[in-house]
Amino acid sequence: MLVVSKINNYYGKQHVLRDLSLDIGEESVGLFGPNGAGKTTLVNAILGIARPASGTITFLERPIHHLATHRIIRLGISVVPQGRELFPIMSVRGNLEAGAAYVPNGRGSIDERLNTVFAMFPVLESRSRQLAGTLSGGEQRMLAIARAMMANPRFLMLDEPSLGLQPSLVADVFRKLREIKKMTSVFVAEQNVYQALKAVDRGYVIENGRIVLDGTAEDLSGNDHIRKSYLGL
Ligand SMILES: Nc1ncnc2c1ncn2[C@@H]1O[C@H](COP(=O)(O)OP(=O)(O)OP(=O)(O)O)[C@@H](O)[C@H]1O
Ligand SMILES: [Mg+2]
Repeated sequence: MLVVSKINNYYGKQHVLRDLSLDIGEESVGLFGPNGAGKTTLVNAILGIARPASGTITFLERPIHHLATHRIIRLGISVVPQGRELFPIMSVRGNLEAGAAYVPNGRGSIDERLNTVFAMFPVLESRSRQLAGTLSGGEQRMLAIARAMMANPRFLMLDEPSLGLQPSLVADVFRKLREIKKMTSVFVAEQNVYQALKAVDRGYVIENGRIVLDGTAEDLSGNDHIRKSYLGL
């Protein structure tokens, strides 16, 4: 579905992504790595926000690395950015409707999508008129994920969805991701490798802008490097 092939990204002279390749099908895939490894840069490269200096990115076999971001999103890629980035003084419902705004020709009407999303996140329906900024931290994270699902994506990217949440809420987020992966391909950048491994089929490990390891969730859970550096075992 999404194929990244040998991309190189720079910020000025800093070489941030190095000959990076990965391949994501109809599955749920994790991207694990420490602070500054290049996870957000990769997400932004896929979105056309951080342009690779070389290499290719294709989505459904179509090159996208030269497309404008709004066109990439229209092809069916949706994102939950790092940090929540909601519209705090807009209602919950307003935020959800905004999530569908960029995909005018998407499948299903906005009302149908709202129904689908409310069925997945019942708490948001009961709070649909409340201002997004007055939701609890956990509810805001769910709203950010629900907003991305309003675009009815084929490919959903989440950039550190567990960041700043207490452990029980982190578990809730990954439980939701297990449901979501039945509806769309999922690509999740995450530092909470222990929890994320429960929600993904496969994972890649990125360090200093390079993929240093990849494998099934089961392989990674048993891998020595993962156990020592990411699971603290
Ligand atoms: N807009 C920018 N301008 C210059 N350098 C940047 C920019 N964004 C990121 N960088 C640098 O690129 C490298 C990769 O950053 P990136 O945000 O992709 O890492 P990350 O893996 O997402 O980290 P984190 O887990 O902290 O979110 C870092 O060294 C960072 O300082
Ligand atoms: Mg990041």
